[in-house]
Amino acid sequence: MNTSDSHVTIFDTTLRDGEQSPGISLDAAEKLEIAEQLARLGVDYIEAGFPVASEGDFDAVRTIARTVRGPAIAGLSRTNLSDVDRCWDALKDAERARIHVFISTSPVHMKHMLKMDEAQVLAETHAGVARAREHTDDVEFSPQDATRTPLDFMIAVLAAAVEAGATTLNIPDTVGYGIPWDFGALIQYIAKNIPGDYILSTHCHDDLGLATANSLAGVQAGARQVEVCVNGLGERAGNASLEEVVMALAIRPDQFPGLSTRVRTEELARTSRLVARLTGYPVQYNKAVVGRNAFQHESGIHQHGVLAERSTYEIIDASTVGQIGRQIVLGKHSGRHAFADTLAKLGIVVHGDALNAAFARFKDLADRKVEITEADLEAIVAEEIGGVEEAGFTLESLEVAGGTVGVPRAHVVLGRKGAKAEATNEGNGMIDAAFQAIRSATGVEAKLRDFNVSSVTGGADALADVVVQLEAGAVRVSGRGVATDVVEAAARAYLNAVNRVLRAQARAEVRKVEIGP
Ligand code: KIV
Ligand code: ZN
Repeated sequence: MNTSDSHVTIFDTTLRDGEQSPGISLDAAEKLEIAEQLARLGVDYIEAGFPVASEGDFDAVRTIARTVRGPAIAGLSRTNLSDVDRCWDALKDAERARIHVFISTSPVHMKHMLKMDEAQVLAETHAGVARAREHTDDVEFSPQDATRTPLDFMIAVLAAAVEAGATTLNIPDTVGYGIPWDFGALIQYIAKNIPGDYILSTHCHDDLGLATANSLAGVQAGARQVEVCVNGLGERAGNASLEEVVMALAIRPDQFPGLSTRVRTEELARTSRLVARLTGYPVQYNKAVVGRNAFQHESGIHQHGVLAERSTYEIIDASTVGQIGRQIVLGKHSGRHAFADTLAKLGIVVHGDALNAAFARFKDLADRKVEITEADLEAIVAEEIGGVEEAGFTLESLEVAGGTVGVPRAHVVLGRKGAKAEATNEGNGMIDAAFQAIRSATGVEAKLRDFNVSSVTGGADALADVVVQLEAGAVRVSGRGVATDVVEAAARAYLNAVNRVLRAQARAEVRKVEIGP
Protein backbone atom coordinates (compact mmCIF):
# COMPACT_ATOMS: atom_id res chain seq x y z
CA MET A 1 0.00 0.00 0.00
CA ASN A 2 1.18 3.47 -0.82
CA THR A 3 1.34 5.57 2.38
CA SER A 4 4.64 7.30 1.77
CA ASP A 5 2.90 9.90 -0.39
CA SER A 6 2.69 13.30 1.28
CA HIS A 7 -0.28 14.26 -0.85
CA VAL A 8 -3.81 13.61 0.39
CA THR A 9 -6.04 13.24 -2.66
CA ILE A 10 -9.35 15.08 -2.41
CA PHE A 11 -12.06 13.08 -4.16
CA ASP A 12 -15.18 15.22 -4.31
CA THR A 13 -18.48 13.38 -4.61
CA THR A 14 -20.88 16.33 -4.26
CA LEU A 15 -22.29 15.65 -7.73
CA ARG A 16 -22.85 11.95 -7.03
CA ASP A 17 -23.35 11.15 -3.32
CA GLY A 18 -24.25 14.80 -2.56
CA GLU A 19 -26.87 14.77 -5.27
CA GLN A 20 -28.47 11.77 -3.54
CA SER A 21 -29.63 14.11 -0.74
CA PRO A 22 -33.45 14.20 -0.75
CA GLY A 23 -34.87 17.06 -2.81
CA ILE A 24 -31.69 17.78 -4.77
CA SER A 25 -32.05 17.47 -8.50
CA LEU A 26 -29.43 19.37 -10.45
CA ASP A 27 -29.63 19.74 -14.21
CA ALA A 28 -26.59 19.35 -16.47
CA ALA A 29 -25.87 23.12 -16.57
CA GLU A 30 -25.94 23.35 -12.78
CA LYS A 31 -23.71 20.29 -12.40
CA LEU A 32 -21.28 21.76 -14.89
CA GLU A 33 -21.20 25.04 -12.97
CA ILE A 34 -20.40 23.20 -9.74
CA ALA A 35 -17.77 21.07 -11.49
CA GLU A 36 -16.07 24.20 -12.88
CA GLN A 37 -15.94 25.66 -9.38
CA LEU A 38 -14.57 22.39 -7.95
CA ALA A 39 -11.81 22.57 -10.55
CA ARG A 40 -11.08 26.12 -9.48
CA LEU A 41 -11.05 24.97 -5.85
CA GLY A 42 -8.36 22.47 -6.77
CA VAL A 43 -9.88 19.08 -5.93
CA ASP A 44 -8.07 16.10 -7.49
CA TYR A 45 -11.16 14.10 -8.51
CA ILE A 46 -14.73 15.05 -9.31
CA GLU A 47 -17.13 12.12 -9.09
CA ALA A 48 -19.58 13.49 -11.64
CA GLY A 49 -22.37 10.93 -11.29
CA PHE A 50 -23.63 7.39 -11.74
CA PRO A 51 -24.02 7.16 -15.53
CA VAL A 52 -26.24 4.08 -15.60
CA ALA A 53 -28.77 5.60 -13.18
CA SER A 54 -30.57 7.73 -15.79
CA GLU A 55 -30.09 9.46 -19.13
CA GLY A 56 -29.72 12.72 -17.21
CA ASP A 57 -26.86 11.32 -15.11
CA PHE A 58 -25.14 9.95 -18.19
CA ASP A 59 -25.39 13.29 -20.04
CA ALA A 60 -24.13 15.25 -17.06
CA VAL A 61 -21.10 12.99 -16.58
CA ARG A 62 -20.30 13.15 -20.30
CA THR A 63 -20.64 16.94 -20.42
CA ILE A 64 -18.37 17.37 -17.41
CA ALA A 65 -15.83 14.87 -18.80
CA ARG A 66 -15.73 16.78 -22.07
CA THR A 67 -15.59 20.27 -20.58
CA VAL A 68 -13.85 20.43 -17.23
CA ARG A 69 -10.07 20.54 -17.16
CA GLY A 70 -7.79 20.04 -14.16
CA PRO A 71 -9.29 17.39 -11.90
CA ALA A 72 -9.71 13.81 -13.10
CA ILE A 73 -13.36 12.88 -13.65
CA ALA A 74 -14.78 9.76 -12.00
CA GLY A 75 -18.02 7.88 -12.63
CA LEU A 76 -19.65 5.30 -10.37
CA SER A 77 -20.51 1.83 -11.63
CA ARG A 78 -21.88 -1.44 -10.31
CA THR A 79 -19.83 -4.53 -11.12
CA ASN A 80 -21.99 -5.67 -14.10
CA LEU A 81 -19.95 -5.48 -17.25
CA SER A 82 -22.60 -3.47 -19.11
CA ASP A 83 -22.67 -0.86 -16.31
CA VAL A 84 -18.89 -0.57 -16.43
CA ASP A 85 -18.96 -0.10 -20.21
CA ARG A 86 -21.71 2.52 -19.94
CA CYS A 87 -19.74 4.34 -17.27
CA TRP A 88 -16.71 4.41 -19.54
CA ASP A 89 -18.82 5.71 -22.45
CA ALA A 90 -19.70 8.73 -20.34
CA LEU A 91 -16.11 9.28 -19.16
CA LYS A 92 -13.96 8.47 -22.15
CA ASP A 93 -13.49 12.06 -23.40
CA ALA A 94 -12.11 13.31 -20.10
CA GLU A 95 -8.53 14.52 -19.79
CA ARG A 96 -8.10 11.83 -17.10
CA ALA A 97 -10.84 9.41 -16.10
CA ARG A 98 -11.47 6.97 -13.28
CA ILE A 99 -14.06 4.21 -13.06
CA HIS A 100 -15.29 3.67 -9.51
CA VAL A 101 -16.67 0.13 -9.17
CA PHE A 102 -18.65 -0.89 -6.08
CA ILE A 103 -20.51 -3.86 -4.66
CA SER A 104 -22.03 -4.50 -1.24
CA THR A 105 -20.10 -6.84 1.05
CA SER A 106 -21.94 -6.79 4.39
CA PRO A 107 -24.15 -9.80 5.24
CA VAL A 108 -27.26 -7.62 5.53
CA HIS A 109 -26.76 -6.06 2.09
CA MET A 110 -25.79 -9.33 0.44
CA LYS A 111 -28.87 -11.08 1.79
CA HIS A 112 -31.52 -8.41 1.31
CA MET A 113 -30.29 -6.35 -1.60
CA LEU A 114 -27.87 -8.33 -3.75
CA LYS A 115 -29.23 -11.81 -2.98
CA MET A 116 -25.73 -13.14 -3.60
CA ASP A 117 -23.42 -15.31 -1.53
CA GLU A 118 -19.76 -14.60 -0.77
CA ALA A 119 -18.44 -16.56 -3.74
CA GLN A 120 -20.66 -14.59 -6.11
CA VAL A 121 -19.60 -11.24 -4.64
CA LEU A 122 -15.93 -12.24 -4.99
CA ALA A 123 -16.44 -13.23 -8.62
CA GLU A 124 -18.41 -10.03 -9.38
CA THR A 125 -15.68 -7.90 -7.81
CA HIS A 126 -12.96 -9.50 -9.88
CA ALA A 127 -14.93 -9.34 -13.13
CA GLY A 128 -16.12 -5.72 -12.68
CA VAL A 129 -12.70 -4.36 -11.75
CA ALA A 130 -10.97 -6.31 -14.52
CA ARG A 131 -13.45 -4.92 -17.07
CA ALA A 132 -12.85 -1.38 -15.80
CA ARG A 133 -9.09 -1.93 -16.16
CA GLU A 134 -9.63 -2.75 -19.84
CA HIS A 135 -10.84 0.85 -20.24
CA THR A 136 -8.52 2.80 -17.94
CA ASP A 137 -5.60 2.22 -15.62
CA ASP A 138 -7.25 4.35 -12.92
CA VAL A 139 -9.78 2.09 -11.19
CA GLU A 140 -11.24 2.51 -7.73
CA PHE A 141 -13.06 -0.26 -5.90
CA SER A 142 -15.46 0.10 -2.93
CA PRO A 143 -16.88 -2.72 -0.78
CA GLN A 144 -20.16 -1.05 0.17
CA ASP A 145 -21.04 -1.14 3.89
CA ALA A 146 -17.43 -2.03 4.69
CA THR A 147 -17.71 -1.16 8.38
CA ARG A 148 -20.37 -3.88 8.85
CA THR A 149 -18.51 -6.48 6.78
CA PRO A 150 -16.66 -9.37 8.51
CA LEU A 151 -12.94 -8.63 8.32
CA ASP A 152 -11.87 -11.89 6.69
CA PHE A 153 -14.38 -11.52 3.90
CA MET A 154 -13.47 -7.89 3.32
CA ILE A 155 -9.80 -8.77 3.02
CA ALA A 156 -10.66 -11.48 0.49
CA VAL A 157 -12.77 -9.05 -1.59
CA LEU A 158 -10.14 -6.29 -1.48
CA ALA A 159 -7.41 -8.75 -2.45
CA ALA A 160 -9.54 -9.84 -5.43
CA ALA A 161 -9.97 -6.20 -6.44
CA VAL A 162 -6.22 -5.52 -6.28
CA GLU A 163 -5.53 -8.72 -8.18
CA ALA A 164 -7.96 -7.59 -10.91
CA GLY A 165 -6.21 -4.21 -11.18
CA ALA A 166 -7.81 -1.77 -8.70
CA THR A 167 -5.46 1.13 -7.99
CA THR A 168 -7.51 2.72 -5.20
CA LEU A 169 -9.30 0.81 -2.45
CA ASN A 170 -12.04 2.95 -0.96
CA ILE A 171 -13.48 1.94 2.40
CA PRO A 172 -17.06 3.21 2.72
CA ASP A 173 -18.63 3.69 6.11
CA THR A 174 -21.90 3.59 4.19
CA VAL A 175 -24.26 3.93 7.15
CA GLY A 176 -22.02 6.09 9.35
CA TYR A 177 -21.43 3.31 11.87
CA GLY A 178 -17.70 3.90 12.43
CA ILE A 179 -16.04 5.39 15.50
CA PRO A 180 -12.75 7.20 14.82
CA TRP A 181 -10.29 4.84 16.56
CA ASP A 182 -12.15 1.79 15.28
CA PHE A 183 -12.26 3.13 11.71
CA GLY A 184 -8.57 4.09 11.90
CA ALA A 185 -7.73 0.57 13.10
CA LEU A 186 -9.67 -0.87 10.15
CA ILE A 187 -7.64 1.19 7.69
CA GLN A 188 -4.43 0.10 9.37
CA TYR A 189 -5.49 -3.54 9.29
CA ILE A 190 -6.28 -3.39 5.57
CA ALA A 191 -2.97 -1.69 4.81
CA LYS A 192 -1.13 -4.41 6.68
CA ASN A 193 -3.00 -7.33 5.18
CA ILE A 194 -3.34 -6.37 1.52
CA PRO A 195 0.00 -6.20 -0.28
CA GLY A 196 0.25 -4.27 -3.54
CA ASP A 197 0.55 -0.84 -5.07
CA TYR A 198 -2.70 0.97 -4.31
CA ILE A 199 -3.99 4.00 -2.44
CA LEU A 200 -6.35 3.57 0.48
CA SER A 201 -9.33 5.91 0.63
CA THR A 202 -12.06 6.82 3.13
CA HIS A 203 -15.74 7.45 2.38
CA CYS A 204 -17.50 8.33 5.63
CA HIS A 205 -21.15 9.13 6.24
CA ASP A 206 -22.30 11.33 9.08
CA ASP A 207 -25.12 9.39 10.75
CA LEU A 208 -23.40 9.77 14.14
CA GLY A 209 -21.86 13.15 13.33
CA LEU A 210 -18.44 11.49 13.01
CA ALA A 211 -17.77 11.59 9.27
CA THR A 212 -15.02 14.21 9.44
CA ALA A 213 -13.43 12.61 12.53
CA ASN A 214 -13.50 9.16 10.92
CA SER A 215 -11.97 10.47 7.68
CA LEU A 216 -9.14 12.11 9.62
CA ALA A 217 -8.58 8.92 11.63
CA GLY A 218 -8.32 7.12 8.30
CA VAL A 219 -5.69 9.57 7.06
CA GLN A 220 -3.73 9.21 10.27
CA ALA A 221 -3.84 5.44 9.77
CA GLY A 222 -2.47 5.65 6.24
CA ALA A 223 -5.32 6.56 3.87
CA ARG A 224 -4.14 8.98 1.19
CA GLN A 225 -7.50 9.77 -0.38
CA VAL A 226 -10.61 11.18 1.31
CA GLU A 227 -14.04 11.21 -0.29
CA VAL A 228 -15.96 14.31 0.69
CA CYS A 229 -18.87 16.55 -0.26
CA VAL A 230 -19.10 20.33 -0.19
CA ASN A 231 -21.17 21.44 2.83
CA GLY A 232 -21.25 17.81 3.99
CA LEU A 233 -24.07 16.95 1.56
CA GLY A 234 -24.89 13.32 0.83
CA GLU A 235 -27.27 10.47 1.57
CA ARG A 236 -29.25 10.93 4.81
CA ALA A 237 -27.04 12.87 7.29
CA GLY A 238 -24.47 13.43 4.54
CA ASN A 239 -20.82 12.68 3.85
CA ALA A 240 -17.66 14.05 5.43
CA SER A 241 -17.54 17.74 4.64
CA LEU A 242 -14.82 18.82 2.22
CA GLU A 243 -14.13 22.12 3.95
CA GLU A 244 -13.81 20.53 7.41
CA VAL A 245 -11.42 17.78 6.33
CA VAL A 246 -9.28 20.12 4.24
CA MET A 247 -9.03 22.75 6.99
CA ALA A 248 -8.29 20.18 9.71
CA LEU A 249 -5.37 18.92 7.64
CA ALA A 250 -4.22 22.50 7.02
CA ILE A 251 -4.59 23.79 10.58
CA ARG A 252 -3.08 20.80 12.42
CA PRO A 253 0.14 19.82 10.62
CA ASP A 254 1.39 18.59 14.00
CA GLN A 255 -1.21 15.80 13.79
CA PHE A 256 -0.69 15.09 10.08
CA PRO A 257 3.04 15.68 9.64
CA GLY A 258 4.14 16.29 6.08
CA LEU A 259 0.65 15.84 4.62
CA SER A 260 -1.11 18.37 2.42
CA THR A 261 -3.86 18.81 -0.16
CA ARG A 262 -3.89 20.94 -3.31
CA VAL A 263 -7.09 22.73 -2.37
CA ARG A 264 -7.06 26.53 -2.78
CA THR A 265 -8.73 27.22 0.52
CA GLU A 266 -9.63 30.83 -0.39
CA GLU A 267 -12.23 29.30 -2.72
CA LEU A 268 -13.99 27.33 0.03
CA ALA A 269 -16.63 29.91 0.97
CA ARG A 270 -17.59 30.63 -2.62
CA THR A 271 -17.81 26.93 -3.43
CA SER A 272 -20.03 26.41 -0.41
CA ARG A 273 -22.34 29.29 -1.43
CA LEU A 274 -22.61 28.08 -5.02
CA VAL A 275 -23.47 24.55 -3.95
CA ALA A 276 -25.99 25.82 -1.40
CA ARG A 277 -27.69 27.98 -4.02
CA LEU A 278 -27.86 25.41 -6.76
CA THR A 279 -28.91 22.52 -4.53
CA GLY A 280 -31.34 24.56 -2.44
CA TYR A 281 -29.70 23.19 0.74
CA PRO A 282 -28.89 26.18 2.96
CA VAL A 283 -25.74 26.02 5.07
CA GLN A 284 -26.48 26.07 8.79
CA TYR A 285 -25.34 29.36 10.35
CA ASN A 286 -22.93 27.70 12.77
CA LYS A 287 -21.43 25.27 10.22
CA ALA A 288 -17.68 24.90 10.70
CA VAL A 289 -15.49 26.86 8.25
CA VAL A 290 -18.22 28.06 5.85
CA GLY A 291 -21.17 28.96 8.12
CA ARG A 292 -21.98 32.66 8.28
CA ASN A 293 -21.31 32.63 12.06
CA ALA A 294 -18.02 30.77 11.80
CA PHE A 295 -16.14 34.05 12.29
CA GLN A 296 -18.70 36.03 14.30
CA HIS A 297 -18.04 36.85 17.95
CA GLU A 298 -21.02 37.61 20.14
CA SER A 299 -19.74 38.08 23.67
CA GLY A 300 -17.93 41.27 24.60
CA ILE A 301 -14.94 39.38 25.98
CA HIS A 302 -14.48 37.51 22.70
CA GLN A 303 -14.93 40.67 20.62
CA HIS A 304 -12.38 42.46 22.72
CA GLY A 305 -9.95 39.56 22.42
CA VAL A 306 -10.24 39.31 18.64
CA LEU A 307 -9.85 43.05 18.19
CA ALA A 308 -6.66 42.95 20.30
CA GLU A 309 -5.29 39.83 18.59
CA ARG A 310 -7.27 37.68 16.13
CA SER A 311 -5.77 34.41 17.28
CA THR A 312 -7.20 34.78 20.80
CA TYR A 313 -10.48 33.28 19.65
CA GLU A 314 -9.90 32.22 16.04
CA ILE A 315 -7.86 29.30 14.79
CA ILE A 316 -8.56 30.09 11.14
CA ASP A 317 -7.95 33.42 9.42
CA ALA A 318 -11.29 34.13 7.66
CA SER A 319 -9.54 35.41 4.54
CA THR A 320 -7.78 32.04 4.02
CA VAL A 321 -11.16 30.36 3.49
CA GLY A 322 -12.67 33.20 1.45
CA GLN A 323 -14.98 34.34 4.22
CA ILE A 324 -14.28 38.05 3.72
CA GLY A 325 -16.54 39.36 0.96
CA ARG A 326 -15.15 41.69 -1.65
CA GLN A 327 -17.06 44.80 -2.68
CA ILE A 328 -17.74 45.05 -6.37
CA VAL A 329 -17.42 48.25 -8.32
CA LEU A 330 -20.42 47.78 -10.56
CA GLY A 331 -23.43 50.02 -10.65
CA LYS A 332 -26.50 50.76 -12.70
CA HIS A 333 -24.45 52.33 -15.49
CA SER A 334 -22.19 49.33 -15.96
CA GLY A 335 -22.52 47.62 -19.32
CA ARG A 336 -22.72 43.99 -20.32
CA HIS A 337 -19.01 43.89 -21.01
CA ALA A 338 -18.03 45.16 -17.56
CA PHE A 339 -20.49 42.74 -16.03
CA ALA A 340 -19.04 39.73 -17.89
CA ASP A 341 -15.54 40.95 -17.08
CA THR A 342 -16.31 41.19 -13.36
CA LEU A 343 -17.78 37.69 -13.35
CA ALA A 344 -14.67 36.38 -15.08
CA LYS A 345 -12.45 38.10 -12.49
CA LEU A 346 -14.48 36.48 -9.74
CA GLY A 347 -13.99 33.17 -11.50
CA ILE A 348 -17.72 32.76 -12.11
CA VAL A 349 -18.10 30.87 -15.36
CA VAL A 350 -21.47 31.37 -17.04
CA HIS A 351 -22.36 29.35 -20.07
CA GLY A 352 -24.67 30.32 -22.95
CA ASP A 353 -27.81 32.39 -22.51
CA ALA A 354 -27.46 32.39 -18.74
CA LEU A 355 -25.14 35.38 -19.13
CA ASN A 356 -27.87 37.46 -20.82
CA ALA A 357 -30.42 36.45 -18.24
CA ALA A 358 -28.01 37.21 -15.38
CA PHE A 359 -27.18 40.61 -16.89
CA ALA A 360 -30.87 41.53 -17.09
CA ARG A 361 -31.26 40.59 -13.42
CA PHE A 362 -28.16 42.58 -12.51
CA LYS A 363 -29.55 45.72 -14.19
CA ASP A 364 -32.80 45.29 -12.35
CA LEU A 365 -30.94 44.85 -9.06
CA ALA A 366 -28.69 47.85 -9.68
CA ASP A 367 -31.81 50.03 -9.91
CA ARG A 368 -32.88 48.98 -6.44
CA LYS A 369 -29.69 48.43 -4.48
CA VAL A 370 -26.80 50.85 -4.05
CA GLU A 371 -24.02 48.44 -3.12
CA ILE A 372 -23.74 45.19 -5.01
CA THR A 373 -21.51 42.64 -3.33
CA GLU A 374 -19.78 39.55 -4.63
CA ALA A 375 -22.36 37.43 -2.78
CA ASP A 376 -25.22 39.36 -4.48
CA LEU A 377 -23.71 38.72 -7.91
CA GLU A 378 -23.17 35.05 -7.16
CA ALA A 379 -26.78 34.77 -6.01
CA ILE A 380 -28.37 36.22 -9.12
CA VAL A 381 -26.06 34.36 -11.48
CA ALA A 382 -26.71 31.06 -9.71
CA GLU A 383 -30.45 31.61 -10.02
CA GLU A 384 -30.20 32.11 -13.77
CA ILE A 385 -27.92 29.14 -14.52
CA GLY A 386 -30.47 26.33 -14.54
CA GLY A 387 -33.46 28.40 -15.64
CA VAL A 388 -32.44 28.99 -19.23
CA GLU A 389 -31.46 25.45 -20.04
CA GLU A 390 -34.80 23.77 -20.25
CA ALA A 391 -36.81 26.78 -21.45
CA GLY A 392 -38.86 26.80 -18.26
CA PHE A 393 -41.27 29.52 -17.11
CA THR A 394 -39.80 32.94 -16.44
CA LEU A 395 -41.29 35.59 -14.19
CA GLU A 396 -42.29 38.53 -16.40
CA SER A 397 -44.16 40.47 -13.75
CA LEU A 398 -45.73 40.14 -10.33
CA GLU A 399 -48.24 42.46 -8.65
CA VAL A 400 -49.42 41.83 -5.12
CA ALA A 401 -51.88 43.62 -2.90
CA GLY A 402 -52.43 42.87 0.75
CA GLY A 403 -52.11 44.02 4.31
CA THR A 404 -54.00 43.58 7.56
CA VAL A 405 -57.37 44.31 5.94
CA GLY A 406 -58.89 42.59 2.92
CA VAL A 407 -57.89 39.42 1.17
CA PRO A 408 -54.36 39.36 -0.28
CA ARG A 409 -54.30 38.99 -4.03
CA ALA A 410 -51.56 38.45 -6.62
CA HIS A 411 -51.35 38.71 -10.39
CA VAL A 412 -48.48 37.01 -12.26
CA VAL A 413 -47.42 37.11 -15.87
CA LEU A 414 -45.10 34.27 -16.86
CA GLY A 415 -43.24 33.68 -20.10
CA ARG A 416 -42.42 30.36 -21.71
CA LYS A 417 -41.11 29.66 -25.20
CA GLY A 418 -42.28 33.04 -26.49
CA ALA A 419 -45.83 32.69 -25.07
CA LYS A 420 -47.35 34.24 -21.97
CA ALA A 421 -49.40 32.72 -19.20
CA GLU A 422 -51.09 34.83 -16.54
CA ALA A 423 -53.35 34.39 -13.56
CA THR A 424 -54.79 36.26 -10.59
CA ASN A 425 -55.41 34.50 -7.29
CA GLU A 426 -56.15 35.20 -3.67
CA GLY A 427 -54.23 33.62 -0.85
CA ASN A 428 -53.61 33.34 2.82
CA GLY A 429 -51.06 36.20 2.78
CA MET A 430 -49.26 37.88 -0.10
CA ILE A 431 -46.71 35.10 -0.57
CA ASP A 432 -49.40 32.45 -0.63
CA ALA A 433 -51.40 34.52 -3.15
CA ALA A 434 -48.30 34.68 -5.39
CA PHE A 435 -47.87 30.90 -5.10
CA GLN A 436 -51.53 30.29 -5.96
CA ALA A 437 -51.29 32.55 -8.99
CA ILE A 438 -48.19 30.69 -10.22
CA ARG A 439 -49.96 27.40 -9.65
CA SER A 440 -52.92 28.56 -11.80
CA ALA A 441 -50.71 30.04 -14.53
CA THR A 442 -48.46 26.98 -14.85
CA GLY A 443 -51.05 24.28 -14.14
CA VAL A 444 -48.52 22.51 -11.90
CA GLU A 445 -50.08 21.07 -8.75
CA ALA A 446 -47.55 20.61 -5.96
CA LYS A 447 -47.51 20.62 -2.17
CA LEU A 448 -45.31 23.18 -0.44
CA ARG A 449 -43.20 21.12 1.98
CA ASP A 450 -40.71 23.67 3.21
CA PHE A 451 -40.18 27.41 3.11
CA ASN A 452 -37.09 29.24 4.32
CA VAL A 453 -36.09 32.93 4.11
CA SER A 454 -32.66 34.40 4.82
CA SER A 455 -30.68 37.38 3.57
CA VAL A 456 -27.71 37.22 1.20
CA THR A 457 -25.75 39.93 3.02
CA GLY A 458 -26.50 42.28 5.91
CA GLY A 459 -28.07 45.75 5.64
CA ALA A 460 -31.54 47.16 5.07
CA ASP A 461 -31.40 46.66 1.28
CA ALA A 462 -30.00 43.10 1.49
CA LEU A 463 -31.26 40.58 -1.03
CA ALA A 464 -33.86 38.19 0.37
CA ASP A 465 -32.93 34.59 -0.34
CA VAL A 466 -35.87 32.15 -0.31
CA VAL A 467 -35.70 28.36 -0.57
CA VAL A 468 -38.83 26.26 -1.03
CA GLN A 469 -39.36 22.52 -1.30
CA LEU A 470 -42.21 21.24 -3.46
CA GLU A 471 -43.61 17.75 -3.72
CA ALA A 472 -45.49 16.66 -6.83
CA GLY A 473 -46.30 12.95 -6.74
CA ALA A 474 -43.02 11.05 -6.47
CA VAL A 475 -40.95 14.11 -7.30
CA ARG A 476 -39.51 16.26 -4.52
CA VAL A 477 -37.50 19.32 -5.54
CA SER A 478 -36.21 22.52 -4.08
CA GLY A 479 -36.19 25.96 -5.65
CA ARG A 480 -34.41 29.13 -4.78
CA GLY A 481 -35.08 32.80 -5.52
CA VAL A 482 -33.38 36.06 -4.65
CA ALA A 483 -34.72 39.60 -4.89
CA THR A 484 -34.69 42.79 -2.88
CA ASP A 485 -38.36 42.14 -2.07
CA VAL A 486 -39.24 39.04 -0.07
CA VAL A 487 -42.52 38.33 -1.92
CA GLU A 488 -40.75 38.51 -5.27
CA ALA A 489 -37.93 36.25 -3.96
CA ALA A 490 -40.53 33.74 -2.77
CA ALA A 491 -42.34 33.81 -6.13
CA ARG A 492 -39.04 33.26 -7.95
CA ALA A 493 -38.17 30.35 -5.66
CA TYR A 494 -41.59 28.78 -6.20
CA LEU A 495 -41.32 29.18 -9.98
CA ASN A 496 -37.80 27.77 -9.94
CA ALA A 497 -39.11 24.69 -8.12
CA VAL A 498 -42.06 24.37 -10.54
CA ASN A 499 -39.60 24.37 -13.47
CA ARG A 500 -37.67 21.57 -11.76
CA VAL A 501 -40.85 19.55 -11.26
CA LEU A 502 -41.65 19.90 -14.96
CA ARG A 503 -38.10 18.94 -15.90
CA ALA A 504 -38.07 15.89 -13.65
CA GLN A 505 -41.45 14.78 -14.99
CA ALA A 506 -40.47 15.35 -18.62
CA ARG A 507 -37.32 13.35 -18.32
CA ALA A 508 -39.02 10.75 -16.15
CA GLU A 509 -35.94 11.12 -14.04
CA VAL A 510 -37.00 8.52 -11.54
CA ARG A 511 -33.77 6.64 -11.04
CA LYS A 512 -33.57 3.38 -12.89
CA VAL A 513 -30.88 2.09 -10.53
CA GLU A 514 -30.37 2.71 -6.85
CA ILE A 515 -27.03 2.73 -5.06
CA GLY A 516 -28.20 1.55 -1.65
CA PRO A 517 -28.60 3.10 1.78
O1 KIV B 1 -21.73 5.15 0.89
C1 KIV B 1 -21.36 4.33 0.04
O2 KIV B 1 -21.15 3.15 0.31
C2 KIV B 1 -21.20 4.80 -1.33
C3 KIV B 1 -20.51 3.86 -2.25
C4 KIV B 1 -21.17 3.77 -3.58
C5 KIV B 1 -19.06 4.23 -2.33
O3 KIV B 1 -21.55 5.91 -1.64
ZN1 ZN C 1 -21.80 7.18 0.18
